[in-house]
Amino acid sequence: MKIFIKTYGCQMNLRDSEATAGELNKLGHEIVYDENEADVFIFNTCSVREKAELKAVGKIGILKKLKKKKPNLIIGIMGCMAQNKGEELLKELPHVNFVVGTGQLHKVPELITNIIEERDKKRKQNIAKGLDESFGVGFDEASEEILQNAKNGERRMPRADIQEVLLENDEDVLESLNSHFDDTNSAISAFVAVTRGCNRFCSYCIVPYVRGREISRTIEDVVNEVTELTVNGIKEVMLLGQNVAAFGLKGDTKAPAPENSPFADLLTELCKIDKLKRIRFVSPYPSYFNEKLINVLAKEEKICHNIHLPFQSGSDRVLKAMNRQYTAEQYKNIIDKIKTAVPDVTFSTDIIVGFPGETDEDFAKTREVFNYVGFDNAYIFKYSPREGTKAAELTDLMVSEEVKEERNQILLNDLTKITEQNNADLCGSVVEILVEGASKRNSERWSGRTSTNKVVIFPPTDGVDVGDIVNVKIDKSSSMSLFGKVVF
Ligand code: 5AD
Ligand code: SF4
Repeated sequence: MKIFIKTYGCQMNLRDSEATAGELNKLGHEIVYDENEADVFIFNTCSVREKAELKAVGKIGILKKLKKKKPNLIIGIMGCMAQNKGEELLKELPHVNFVVGTGQLHKVPELITNIIEERDKKRKQNIAKGLDESFGVGFDEASEEILQNAKNGERRMPRADIQEVLLENDEDVLESLNSHFDDTNSAISAFVAVTRGCNRFCSYCIVPYVRGREISRTIEDVVNEVTELTVNGIKEVMLLGQNVAAFGLKGDTKAPAPENSPFADLLTELCKIDKLKRIRFVSPYPSYFNEKLINVLAKEEKICHNIHLPFQSGSDRVLKAMNRQYTAEQYKNIIDKIKTAVPDVTFSTDIIVGFPGETDEDFAKTREVFNYVGFDNAYIFKYSPREGTKAAELTDLMVSEEVKEERNQILLNDLTKITEQNNADLCGSVVEILVEGASKRNSERWSGRTSTNKVVIFPPTDGVDVGDIVNVKIDKSSSMSLFGKVVF
């Protein structure tokens, strides 16, 4: 079968899609990137903001037309929205075959095999009964009547022939999502999920509800996966977890003592893998970024000097309402400690503007921290109420869309100014990069990345290949990139 996978949302979702693609590929299926070729559509969905859900539902809805033309299509929804909405999705999208939640992702390949087998069986039965071979294949035969109605102008969609909803929380997902899939043969970087789920329950966030309780893999299991990746040419890994620094803490929601960081132990072990050149990770919860982790960051050269540290708000009042367990002062303290230990470190962050009750004064405090840190990148989100979360109940305090947009723009402008300056400061210097190769649009522009996560553009150079670590002298900069030439 030719399978098209569309992914919405975060890196964890990208990782899940890639693992699913790997498993499907092992079974002999082909992963395609052109929708027109697809026999199977899989949507790996996100629920973190309403917009992400609406986008996916819209896209899947559009496939109704195609399904009428090609009844054999298999359409499935997996991931966070599948978990969040469950069976309800089949009412709105009756042409869908399966809805698979976050605890059952590993079952997707098996589900597809079952559908194929069931349909083959059906075809054979139809032939034996002297019926049209395709009767009841693709669409439920019981809804033939509806199909007929549709032909007569009634707009109800017939149901898909086989429908499955799998939503239980199954910890097997942790060990069964280890395969990787890259058919470009030039990948040098890979995602590796080290924890799944989240126990923090920030008051705005749906993740703990849709991804379940936090579970960690073992150090040995992660080291094995990364070692195997490096054998296949991977030079850099991005470790993933909703609160990645909670790795190995058995779900404890109290910030660990300064000397306790199983995540730091994991990093130390990974650094011993010879062929691995760089390690990145997202996202550590600020108060888990303790002394032990900072010391390992300072000591181990393979750990990249770019830390994504979500701070969400700079107002203590808002942080408290968000159930974030730190103050703006404590956040700045952690940043200062990391800067002292690793002077060239850069930071990126997540921020929510327009959390219920956020005043101009609260926002001013966010802006103050934002400029204090001098972030190199920031994901700024307009607060989106998510049903079932504590913050969604604060209906009297909702901030208007206009105000959210205004605050969003202010921070984006600040960000451009900061990054323009940070990058201009690097003009004239020599930086070390891991070469990623030619840009898709222009083969005359090669790019690479510094340990501090800055994109460096340079002309193709004899003797310089993808995956190499080289030095580049910077002669120009913008808010997005640095430009220069390789120096030997
Ligand atoms: N509205 C807006 N942004 C949100 N995030 C999580 N939940 C919401 C929400 N309801 C943001 C947080 C988090 C990032 C992944 O998404 O900033 O760090
Ligand atoms: Fe959501 Fe907070 Fe968990 Fe991050 S730490 S996934 S924001 S609940």
